[in-house]
Amino acid sequence: MRRPQQEPAAGMPESVTIYEVGARDGLQNEKTTVPVQVKAEFVRRLLAAGLEHIEITSFVSPKWVPQLADAEELLQSLGQEGLGRHRPVLVPNLKGFQRAEALGVSAIAVFGSATESFSQKNLNCSVSESFARFETVVSKAKAADMWVRGYVSMCFGDPWEGDVPIGQVVEVARRMMELGCDELSLGDTIGVATTGHVERLLGALQEAQIPLDRIAVHFHDTYGQALANTLAAVRAGVRIIDSSAGGLGGCPYAKSATGNLATEDLVWALDGMGVHTGVDLPKLVQASLWMATQLGRPSASNVVRALGAA
Ligand code: HMG
Ligand code: MG
Repeated sequence: MRRPQQEPAAGMPESVTIYEVGARDGLQNEKTTVPVQVKAEFVRRLLAAGLEHIEITSFVSPKWVPQLADAEELLQSLGQEGLGRHRPVLVPNLKGFQRAEALGVSAIAVFGSATESFSQKNLNCSVSESFARFETVVSKAKAADMWVRGYVSMCFGDPWEGDVPIGQVVEVARRMMELGCDELSLGDTIGVATTGHVERLLGALQEAQIPLDRIAVHFHDTYGQALANTLAAVRAGVRIIDSSAGGLGGCPYAKSATGNLATEDLVWALDGMGVHTGVDLPKLVQASLWMATQLGRPSASNVVRALGAA
């Protein structure tokens, strides 16, 4: 399989961490139910391709996200491979936390919003009500020695509110960190960010004493900016990157959200610059080709399509 010619690029680190969201963000938006055995096999293939940090599923209301109603079954089917501090699951409230804890999960993610509109659409509550829920969940998680990620959605624009002031994002990010989150992922839920905006927000977060080594970036690719934005964030000092195998993804509660940055497109770019990720690109491409067959449509990733056709 073709590989990019390796030439180092200025301002890039030796290595980065890829946080794979294909099994959760990638599949939550699928209209037809993906069988639990296919989900489990997808996760196993991602692991075999060298991805270590894999978000497995969500313990949300099955009425809200029917596709992930099989969260218990999926974890049971994966056994030890689905557990551990590098296998987080999304938890929106105490009920979700209790479901996850009962299965032996030791890493969770709570997900909030920089805007009131998306908080209402996604969690059916205001931003301040969401923080009351997160406080309960995160304190219980910490008491159980779990690893906790906090997401902030709509960091760069919102389908209902339009532009989102940077100060508003920083305030929600600050509150997330104060809860005790180990890591904070900045969500460009509808893929509208551009590189200058990314640099400005990261600068503002640093000014607010939120260290970049605890920040991850999460770009959806609606406007084709996800890779450029990710590389801008890495050049600014971010070392944790969210992406989705095959570019799967979207949020059922955000109009115009499409797939995440494709992990293959990211790995191709990083491999070319000699930045270590631990991912075996040919194996990952095979995993995404297999998943595309299961879903019955071609992958959204340029790299998967190019290498799959080669
Ligand atoms: P609600 O309807 O207000 O919940 O939804 P409720 O507390 O009133 O309960 C209603 C019913 O749901 C009850 O059942 C509860 O037991 C049940 P009933 O009595 O009617 O039979 N219920 C649950 N069942 C299972 N697990 C639970 C749970 N909670 C309640 N955890 C709620 C509030 C938060 C539950 C709902 O809004 C929800 O599940 N939202 C999740 C939406 C979601 O998953 N969105 C996608 C993930 S976020 C994302 O993709 C963005 C991200 O990628 C970053 C980015 O891109 O920006 C992370
Ligand atoms: Mg997302």
